[in-house]
Amino acid sequence: MQTARLSLRRLILAAAIVTALVISYAATGAFSPPLRSPRARGIVATDNAEASRAAAEVLKKGGNAADAAVAAALALGVASPAGSGLGGGGFALVWDAKSKTARALDFRESAPKAATRDIFLVDGKADPQKSRVGGLAVAVPGEPAGLVELSRKHGKLGLAASAQPAIRLAREGSTTSWYTEQAVKSVMKRFTPPAGDPIAALIAPSTIAGARVKQLELAKTLELLAKNGSDGFYKGTVARALVDAVKQRGGLLTEDDLLSYKPLWKDPLEGSYRGHRIWVVPPPAGGATLVETLQILEARPPLRPLGAGSSATLHSIAEALKHAFADRARHLGDPAFYDVPTTKLVDPAYAKELAARISDDKVAKPESYGSSTHGAKAVPVEPPRDKGTSHLCVSDGDGNVVALTTTVNLSFGAKLMAAGVSLNNEMDDFAAQPGVPNAFGLVGAAANAVAAGKRPLSSMTPTVVTKDGIARICAGGSGGPFIVSETAQVIINVVDFGMDANAAVMSPRIHAQWMPDVLFAEEEIAEDVREGLRKRGHKVVPPPEGAGGAAQALVLRDETVEAASNPRKGGAPAAP
Ligand code: DON
Repeated sequence: MQTARLSLRRLILAAAIVTALVISYAATGAFSPPLRSPRARGIVATDNAEASRAAAEVLKKGGNAADAAVAAALALGVASPAGSGLGGGGFALVWDAKSKTARALDFRESAPKAATRDIFLVDGKADPQKSRVGGLAVAVPGEPAGLVELSRKHGKLGLAASAQPAIRLAREGSTTSWYTEQAVKSVMKRFTPPAGDPIAALIAPSTIAGARVKQLELAKTLELLAKNGSDGFYKGTVARALVDAVKQRGGLLTEDDLLSYKPLWKDPLEGSYRGHRIWVVPPPAGGATLVETLQILEARPPLRPLGAGSSATLHSIAEALKHAFADRARHLGDPAFYDVPTTKLVDPAYAKELAARISDDKVAKPESYGSSTHGAKAVPVEPPRDKGTSHLCVSDGDGNVVALTTTVNLSFGAKLMAAGVSLNNEMDDFAAQPGVPNAFGLVGAAANAVAAGKRPLSSMTPTVVTKDGIARICAGGSGGPFIVSETAQVIINVVDFGMDANAAVMSPRIHAQWMPDVLFAEEEIAEDVREGLRKRGHKVVPPPEGAGGAAQALVLRDETVEAASNPRKGGAPAAP
């Protein structure tokens, strides 16, 4: 009897330990299952739990994917203000299930009309401080106009309904996430907010995880937007406050710049990958680089027999990325200002040509990647930096999907605030000078030089993958250039290796961007795999501190939808 009681006690103890372990692993996201919902109900994944809940609330009220995406983006700007908000911009890819078509929305910020090619040069040399902090760093925000347009064109409930959860969070308080705390700490190491700038209330030691923060100025601005649409932001008191603040810190933004801003609907770029269609936003978004990467891989021997995460697989992915990023550096920019050879870059015949130049067992010389018409100059491995940006995916019961990526660029953008809005430092995404790396170590050329009204080149690539006219994957992420590599690897993990949404998002990743000539490998990648990569000639380094992206993904099956948010930023998916 006593032995039986003892073993029962042991059994209970063992069960408790196992449960505690499972819960703690689940909390770190190490092997937590993805959130699943019936396909007919819809689902959302963002990198902030409150923003995901905001979108789920709108889906529950009968909103569609566009309504919910707008709600999530507005809520992100409140609950996760380091990464995105009304002062930034982004891109969305909208999949319309009924017409089986995709549309791309470009609400990227644009350079003020007074901007010229050399504004960031001092004595002939690019000064990174100028394009990253203060007035000159600020491009004309596109986020408010973009979200108004997405709601108007594709939403059912109207902007006011989508804005409601964000207004509530701003008025009643949102909970500071540990990611926001981390972002504030990292910014404070290098930056002291100027006395009198309201951003000092956010970039402060009091911004700690768990604190509830009200943002009453931002609530007022959101209310004006909800009531008056774009005019609530681009005209009147808000517009004047933004222009004054930027002028005071030496910037070029004018009321006329704000009034003239227009979001742009574009035909999406369409790529192919192993029987799937890849739908992305064309330049200046990062979609062309993603499609080029995947199509090069498709033209190479299949990855599946090489195994997920093997050095042969990661080498193949890295080499494809290096070709695509070399082409990015040479050719990509805002097509309204430069003759960007997008059609060629996403042509499967071109992908075949590049694929034939990849060796299975060694890297090539840097100058031979992409359409090699120029020599390659070594650039330094980028310095540690802050993380802005937020990607979200939403699906609704009718099979519509919205992928949307939004940013103020680096954490808290230009570190400048007015009307409750943190303004972007997207001007740093231009090539201040040919070959001079930006905050992400990315180099560019004339295609991405500064010009009045031009939109800076981005890596953001909100993506929807369809098969036989049905959406199957939604993916995207944050992390500057890491966005392209992580989105590619999420898609590969699902398509080639049959992973579920969570495994696809959580598997360790590599990143290569041609310049700097190194291979970034996440620390979970095993030593024998690293050795296999080094043997092929890769200079394997850890991702710079603070780098590495956070991906969000949906995997849409016949009856169910799975959603996964990378826990790196404390994100959590939600369903109505
Ligand atoms: O548009 C771009 O490519 C950048 N502004 C994105 C910045 C970003 O992802 C910051 N996160 N680490």
